[in-house]
Formats: sequence, C-alpha cells, structure tokens
Amino acid sequence: MALQSTDDRPDPVFEIVPAIGAAPIEQLVAAFYRRVATDDLLRPMYPDEALDEAEQRLRDFLIFRCGGSEAYLTNRGHPRLRMRHAPFAIDQAARDRWVKLMDEAFEEVNIPDPQRSTLQEFLRATATFLRNRE
Ligand code: HEM
Repeated sequence: MALQSTDDRPDPVFEIVPAIGAAPIEQLVAAFYRRVATDDLLRPMYPDEALDEAEQRLRDFLIFRCGGSEAYLTNRGHPRLRMRHAPFAIDQAARDRWVKLMDEAFEEVNIPDPQRSTLQEFLRATATFLRNRE
C-alpha cells in the first residue's frame, strides 16, 4: 500500500513572496532590527558590533523561506537554524522578547492578510522551536 500523506497541500509560507513581493519582508526585518539595536536583552547576544549583516541574513532567509530569491542558500547553505542558534542562550525570556519586537515590527509595516497572519504564526512557532535553554 502506498503511503498516503494527508499533508501534501502547498506550504502557505512558501506562497507569501509570490503573492505580495519581497519589499514588505524587507521592511519588516528593518523595523525588527531597529528595535534589536536598543534592546537590553537581545542586543548583547549579537556578536558583531554592527547589526547590518545579521539583518541581511534574516532578510535573505525569510525571503527564501517565503518562496522568493534563494540568495540565502547560495550565501549561507542549508539554514540549520537550531544548530546556528546553539551558541546563543535562548531561554523563554529571550524567545518572548524576540517575538515581542517582531510583533511590534508587524504593527509598523503594512502586510495584508492572510499573508500577515501566516508569517506571524510561522515566526512565533520558529522562535519557540529555537528555544534551547530552560
Ligand atoms: C527565539 C529568539 C531568537 C534569538 C534570541 C535569536 C538570536 C540570533 C542571533 C544572536 C543570531 C546571530 C546573529 C548573526 O547572524 O550575526 C541569529 C542569527 C540568525 N537567526 Fe535568530 N534568533 C531568534 C529567533 C530566530 C527566528 C524565529 C528565526 C527565523 C524565523 C531566526 C533566524 C535567524 C537566521 C536566518 C540567522 C542567521 C543564520 C546564519 O546564516 O548564520 N532567528 N539569531
């Protein structure tokens, strides 16, 4: 008997850039990093003195994950987000702060639904998945 997947619908996250373009995601990531820059909990976790490159990595990753340009894969390879976040102590408080700053960034940028709620849910779930400390 052939294995039947009940989950072969297209992934809605992958449909976001084809539907609304990459510009809203660029604006969202810029609004997020503007907040990280002055955040007492998150800013000290970022190793580089400037945040531009971290901003570019998150922007490229999200554009790729949302069905747009694959520049992230070309430049960084497979995302392996759990592994890449292992050096950073992400406890519940750090996860919650990340999500809070991202939710504030969503307030600033005009992303239509259903793409907005799909992206916001994806980011929250990924942040939870990346928690690596109590
Ligand atoms: C849960 C709270 C999170 C914290 C505290 C956190 C923190 C960090 C830090 C400190 C870095 C290194 C900065 C750099 O690239 O120079 C980083 C990189 C990165 N983060 Fe997060 N992050 C969180 C959640 C997320 C989520 C939810 C995503 C994706 C949806 C994400 C995607 C990325 C990506 C793509 C990179 C760059 C990886 C690479 O190519 O090296 N992060 N994060």
